[in-house]
Formats: sequence, C-alpha cells, structure tokens
Amino acid sequence: MSKELMLRNIERAQRAIDENRETVKNGRMRQRYHFMGETGWINDPNGLIYYKGKYHFFYQYNPYYGHWDYMHWGHAVSDDMLHWEYLPLALAPSESYDDHMRGGCFSGSAIEHDGKLFLMYTGVTNDGKGFEQTQCIAYSEDGIHFEKYDGNPVLTPPEGVPSHMFRDPKVWKHGDTYYMVCGASRDNKAQALLYRSDDMLHWTFFNVLAESRGEWGYMWECPDFYQIGDKYVLMVSPMGAGERTVVYMVGDFDYETGKFSYQINGEIDWGYDYYAPQSFVAPDGRRLIVAWANCWDWMPFWKDWGPTYKEGWCGFFNIPREVRFMPDHTLQFVPIKELEKLRKDECKLDCFTVGKDAVQLTAGDGVSFEMKMKIDLVKTDAEELELDLRCGNGRKVICVFDFKKGQMCVVRDNSDGWSQGTSRSTMLLQGKQELDIHIFSDQSSIEIFTNQYQNNHANNIFAENTQNQIEIHTYGGEAVIKDYEAYGMQECFL
Ligand code: FRU
Repeated sequence: MSKELMLRNIERAQRAIDENRETVKNGRMRQRYHFMGETGWINDPNGLIYYKGKYHFFYQYNPYYGHWDYMHWGHAVSDDMLHWEYLPLALAPSESYDDHMRGGCFSGSAIEHDGKLFLMYTGVTNDGKGFEQTQCIAYSEDGIHFEKYDGNPVLTPPEGVPSHMFRDPKVWKHGDTYYMVCGASRDNKAQALLYRSDDMLHWTFFNVLAESRGEWGYMWECPDFYQIGDKYVLMVSPMGAGERTVVYMVGDFDYETGKFSYQINGEIDWGYDYYAPQSFVAPDGRRLIVAWANCWDWMPFWKDWGPTYKEGWCGFFNIPREVRFMPDHTLQFVPIKELEKLRKDECKLDCFTVGKDAVQLTAGDGVSFEMKMKIDLVKTDAEELELDLRCGNGRKVICVFDFKKGQMCVVRDNSDGWSQGTSRSTMLLQGKQELDIHIFSDQSSIEIFTNQYQNNHANNIFAENTQNQIEIHTYGGEAVIKDYEAYGMQECFL
C-alpha cells in the first residue's frame, strides 16, 4: 500500500512538473549553465555520486512552486556535470515517518551497496507535537526507481538530542564497514555524530566525531567527512555561528576510537549564497563539492530568496569545486576543469595598467562569462582595485580588492534593485607576488574566487540584461594586471 502511495505522490509531482516546465523554461532569470531544478524550489544537493558511468545529482525539491515546502528528492544525471537529463523524482513523502506537515524527505546521501544504489535520508514528520527527524533508507536496482526500506526508520535521535535536531546523514565505506555522520544538537551545542554498520541497515552509535563549544553554533546541518591524503576534512553548515555558515576543519582521525581532532579551520565561501555543500569522488579521484546557491531566513544577512519565485522557480547549485590542499593544509576550492568546455568568444589581453579612470573590459556578453586575471602586487601601488560587474541603468555589483586592509568585498546594495548587503573576507597577502582573480558570472549569480581559491564569494544577482558592462579602476595609485583572459559561456539548458 505505502509503496503505491510514494509512486502516486511521485506521479502527481511529475504532472505538476509537466504543467510548469514551459513557464520555467522561459523564465528570464533562469541560469544558463548552473544546475537548476526543472520547476519549483530546490535547496541542498543530496546523494551526489558517480554511479554506473554517470554523475547523479539528487536535490531537496518542492516541484510545485518556488518556495520551500513538502520535501521530495529530485534527480538528474549527467556525463560531464554541465549538461543534465532529469529523471523521475527519487523520493516523495509517503510514510508515517516522512509524511508532510512541512517535513518530508530531508537531506541525505547515496552509496553503492550490494549492487544497488542506496539512499540514506532524514524522514521528517509532525503530527502536532513538533518535528520528528529519523534516518531512513531507500534503494534502487536500476538507479532510477527507489523503494523505501520496510525497516525504516533505521535510526532515531539518541538521548539528549531533541527530536527536531537530528538530520542530514552522510555515508561512506571504509574497509568492510559503513560509516555515517549526522548533524545534531545537544545542550544547545552542535555535534557531528558518528555511526557505523556492517550491512547499511543496522546502525550503532560510535562516537561524537566533533562538537561545537558554542563557537561553531548550536546545530550542524549537512556534515560531511572525508579523507584527502593522510588528513581528514569535516565540512559543516553551522546554525548560530554568525556569518560563518559553511566551514571546514582539517585534522586527524582514528578509526579505532572514532575521534577527529582538528588543527585547522576555514570558510569554504564567504558569499551570501553558498550553503550545505556535499562532497563526492569523481572517477579520476578528485574530491568535488557542490552547494546550494541561496541562504536561509535565520542567517544574519538574509533578506529573502530573491525574485525568481515569480517565474515559478527558486534555487540552483553553485558550480562544482574541487577540494585541494595548500602546503599548510588549508583548503582551496577550485572550479572543476570541465567548465572550460563551455568557453567561447575568447578575449585575452597583454599586461595593462589601471588607474583612477575606469577602463572597460570585455567578457562574453557581459552577463554570462568566465574571467581570469592576476594583479601584479610587486608593481601595483594602488590601495584598492575596484571591479564593477553587471553595470548599466545606474546599477552595478562592486567588487573591491583592498590591498592595504587585506580585504575583499562584494557590494550588492545597488546591484539589481533587489539584493542587499556586502560580503567580506580577509586576504592574507603578506609576501605574495600576485593576486589571482577568477570569476564565473551567470544570468543570476556571480561567483568570485581569489587568493588561490581561498577567498571565495558566491552571490546571487538578479540584474537586467542591459546591465552588461564591466569596468575596472583603482584608488590611491595604479594596479598592474596580467594574464587577462575572458570567455562567453555556452548555454547548457537549451
Ligand atoms: C539545510 C537543510 C537541512 C535539511 C534540509 C531541508 O539547508 O535545512 O538541514 O535536511 O535543508 O530541506
């Protein structure tokens, strides 16, 4: 009976997608090369996996309209992470542990087990006594049609963890054992709880992998844990840690005790629109992460989710990034090399000098483009370099590289008549010869990577296409720019 209910709910959602597809396709603000849902609202990436020769992206999805509600799992596959084929929804609320009341099938992850594709997700329900979050399993023989496990839920919140603060399982395998890290809150402090299992179905608590002493907030959403070289990385999306909403920690881990001790921490992205990244391994061994390009109403800089709901959709993913170590074991987050396949209309410039008078730059159509350059810090005596993107109609997005303060910021206050705020990060430039800048602009977003991909700002911008000029100028001296290259981007959703 309940298997049929999930199928019926998926069919109903598919009909809504069919009805709205054309409207959303014609949306003026929709992205040209960033991953989006077919219709409606998307948030976290879920179950990212390379499985049987294809990249599978699942996602938190409300197919009906452009607001968060009634969580399903959307599903799409790709050969290159650029061009996507949408598949039928993987999960819809249907069981007593994940039926609606503003809950549903919350975030989770995927793993291959026993020749099948397994999903582990958080079932959320509310029968009037508050939210109940439990961990649940679904599996598929063909990687397309999923069935929920009869023994669900496989985990309920442990003693001391409130029933609405236990979610977002991320699974991996080490040796013959499965491990899972899950976000939780105890005594109002965030925890990453570690579980293990021999068969993917029966799970036992192992240890508290890491916890906040208050400095990292009261709840960690979407924790992820992986090894790179001989070090381990924990990524979390903390609630209650101010503007630090996507952090990473690097340290050592002991599989005997289940304890992680970190010596290094940092921010994956300082922009307003980067949350809940999840990692997976590409067939060539790269550790890649993908995040949701928006923010929640509890964040200090939140204004709203942007105007795209008027076009029947909201949300997309940031471009996938490769996680790499710097020599000091801090992390870099580098846009995947696959994006180079989208390049068109190349523009390269020889070394040039910029002063207080604005210089116009060319990159694609000024809306959707990739741009790279380096600032020669030895020959530059300017205090600040200002790069203005999406200029026109008296509006612009202002990016300031402040060499004196060692700060980079992106000002959105007069960018599109909608967005607000200034995202800021500190750049350590001491002893550096040059500052690298790498930008991806799409119809409704600008992602800026700088300082060896350690100062990254993802921000959404909902500007008109008449805002397509690019200008650069300095304050307090001159700046020398080298290796300027820019490209238009081929559209991926034609
Ligand atoms: C993070 C999050 C998760 C939850 C999901 C619900 O963005 O709040 O903790 O599982 O979104 O859609």
